[in-house]
Amino acid sequence: MYLVTGATGDLGRRVVKAICNRREAVRAFVRLSSSYSALERLGAEIFVGDLQHRDSIARAAQGMRYIISSHGSSAKDAYALEYQANVDLIDAAKAYGVEHFVFISVLGVDHHYEESPIFKAKREVEKYLAKSGLSYTILRPSGFASNLLTLANTFERTGLYFLIGRPENRTSIVSTDDLSEIAVRACTLVGARNHTFAVGGPEALRRDEIPKIFEKIFQKKGQLLSIPLEVFDGIRGFLGLVNSGLSKELSTLRVLVANEYTCDPQPIEQIFGIELESLHHFLRRNLQRT
Ligand SMILES: NC(=O)c1ccc[n+]([C@@H]2O[C@H](COP(=O)([O-])OP(=O)(O)OC[C@H]3O[C@@H](n4cnc5c(N)ncnc54)[C@H](OP(=O)(O)O)[C@@H]3O)[C@@H](O)[C@H]2O)c1
Repeated sequence: MYLVTGATGDLGRRVVKAICNRREAVRAFVRLSSSYSALERLGAEIFVGDLQHRDSIARAAQGMRYIISSHGSSAKDAYALEYQANVDLIDAAKAYGVEHFVFISVLGVDHHYEESPIFKAKREVEKYLAKSGLSYTILRPSGFASNLLTLANTFERTGLYFLIGRPENRTSIVSTDDLSEIAVRACTLVGARNHTFAVGGPEALRRDEIPKIFEKIFQKKGQLLSIPLEVFDGIRGFLGLVNSGLSKELSTLRVLVANEYTCDPQPIEQIFGIELESLHHFLRRNLQRT
């Protein structure tokens, strides 16, 4: 049986679905406050708990063969969720003889982005997992295509696309469905054992190419509203004076919008036997347009 954390999240619910599609048993770790009825309908076993409680984690891990850690956090609980909850999951996996552990990290995690508590926590977890003695796979995805669904809907209504940072920066946006499939395959694939993989889409897009894809899908001319990094930094600096918490929340966004996130798709396609989906294809499929 698989344990999936963050099972109500963008990625986690797709991971649960991919496991259910294979007719394998999966335990979905959810909070009581989460919307998890769709997971129940898929046939997942629901485990209600809180990843900030070690005993919850230990109970959830008992009897599991594979663990896929796909929960997320905000900057303010990065330590508790990104770091401590994963350390507790790894310890519980060892204690209960889990066969394989998949950790969802992030592309660029090894670039020493001091500003982002989330990147730092993920890097520390990667090191802890690699030393744990468990069989593991670390996946470092770029930005998820599913993040763009809301922006696509806004574009369809208003024709507007907001872009913070450098339009020329490139990003290998990954289909969230491909990533979920890769995470599940990693559990049993010998070639994925004790390896770390960068996971992006098949193309390295300039960030200002994204609204052009929307234009094609909706057959509508749009307007790109670009917010330069310097303006974003100014706003963040001001917010830091009045609300340091909010400024911290924006620190990971700053890292994301200021840097390039690209990687070679070939190793993933070869090792996982998957043809990675383009952003255009993902959006068309998920926006149900033909
Ligand atoms: N989104 C991206 O572009 C991107 C890119 C690279 C890497 N990643 C990484 O991929 C992973 C999945 O991202 P995502 O976008 O799918 O995340 P997401 O949609 O924000 O989902 C986060 C999940 O974590 C759960 N969670 C939060 N606090 C919890 C707690 N205390 N106890 C139990 N569950 C808790 C949430 O449950 P509730 O439903 O109850 O809130 C939700 O299911 C994350 O580790 C993220 O850092 C994301």
